[in-house]
Amino acid sequence: MLSDLTQPMTTGGFLRNAWYMAGWVDDFCQAPLTHRTMLDEPIVFFKTGSGQWVALEDRCAHRFAPLSQGHLLEGCRVQCPYHGLEYDATGACVNNPHGAGRIPPSARVKVWPVVERHRALWVWMGEQTPQPDAIPDYSILDHAPTLHSTRLDYLSIRANYRLIIDNLLDLSHTSYLHEGLIGNADTVRSDTQCEVEGSDVIVTRHARDASAPAIFAQCWPDHPPRVDKVTRMRWMAPSSLRLLSCICEPGRDPMTGTGFHALHMLTPESAQTTHYFFTAVRFGVKTDDLALDLELQEKIARMRRFAFEEQDAPVIEAQQRYLDCANRVLEPVLLEIDVGPARYRRILAQRIEAERRSLIRPVVAR
Ligand code: FES
Ligand SMILES: [Fe+2]
Repeated sequence: MLSDLTQPMTTGGFLRNAWYMAGWVDDFCQAPLTHRTMLDEPIVFFKTGSGQWVALEDRCAHRFAPLSQGHLLEGCRVQCPYHGLEYDATGACVNNPHGAGRIPPSARVKVWPVVERHRALWVWMGEQTPQPDAIPDYSILDHAPTLHSTRLDYLSIRANYRLIIDNLLDLSHTSYLHEGLIGNADTVRSDTQCEVEGSDVIVTRHARDASAPAIFAQCWPDHPPRVDKVTRMRWMAPSSLRLLSCICEPGRDPMTGTGFHALHMLTPESAQTTHYFFTAVRFGVKTDDLALDLELQEKIARMRRFAFEEQDAPVIEAQQRYLDCANRVLEPVLLEIDVGPARYRRILAQRIEAERRSLIRPVVAR
């Protein structure tokens, strides 16, 4: 197992032929045009009058102005704010208001495949044919009761997306960084298991005979004095994660307890910045008091945002700064708790390398 702990901390690059979350659909409905930079690509999103989502390169072919600062005309054309060229949903320039109105063939912008699923927009960032089945499974969001779901949230993190995945796939840090909030001293000595299922990596931590961390105790008012605390995090390539986090009676199946599915979707904005989308859905609900459920809904949302923004992000962003300014190659000390991060980094690096090789055309001898 420890032989997997060999991927350098700084292995770089993006997997291009994959779906990445652009954002929550609700947020894209706030304005006619919305900008998002993904994998260093500027993209403008809009919904046509017929209800179709469109994602275009947000960079006018004329002098590279951001189309997202322009206007959506008649629900189907984007007008550049600088000199008024208009582009349709296929990325073709369809109106040049200047001179004789001639439209050069190169006057077009790239179109990105975009799909609405699980309350989010997903963009296929590669050149190969998009595979709709490859959108990460967040169907838990499709029918989640509103009362048991937390808000659809977002943070911008000034760090490479891999440092955030490392954090999420190694939940031993909850006992320290989130002490008293999500983890506690009893959860340090957990059994940790790492499995690979298809190309997903799953890390399970099982703390037995523990006191219930505060938020779980509130979700289960008459919980037993000692509980098992289980976290099961699933990484889905390239950067989506789904966590089951719960307490249950000692020795019982975790699904008989209570907790929440915590969803984490990471999209690289650049090599050093990441869009971090997150939300949670409770399961095994053991409260039936409306006022308490509303309080818990707000509390879980606030607690998770606080944990990510005030506790995880400062550490992760400092890691990025230290990596950036290091005057030597940094090799991490490897511990047993690193097995999950090592596994996913190896799988991701293999997929990025395979993609890179497929782009290299063999030289044909004449
Ligand atoms: S930069 Fe867009 S029309 Fe000139
Ligand atoms: Fe954390």
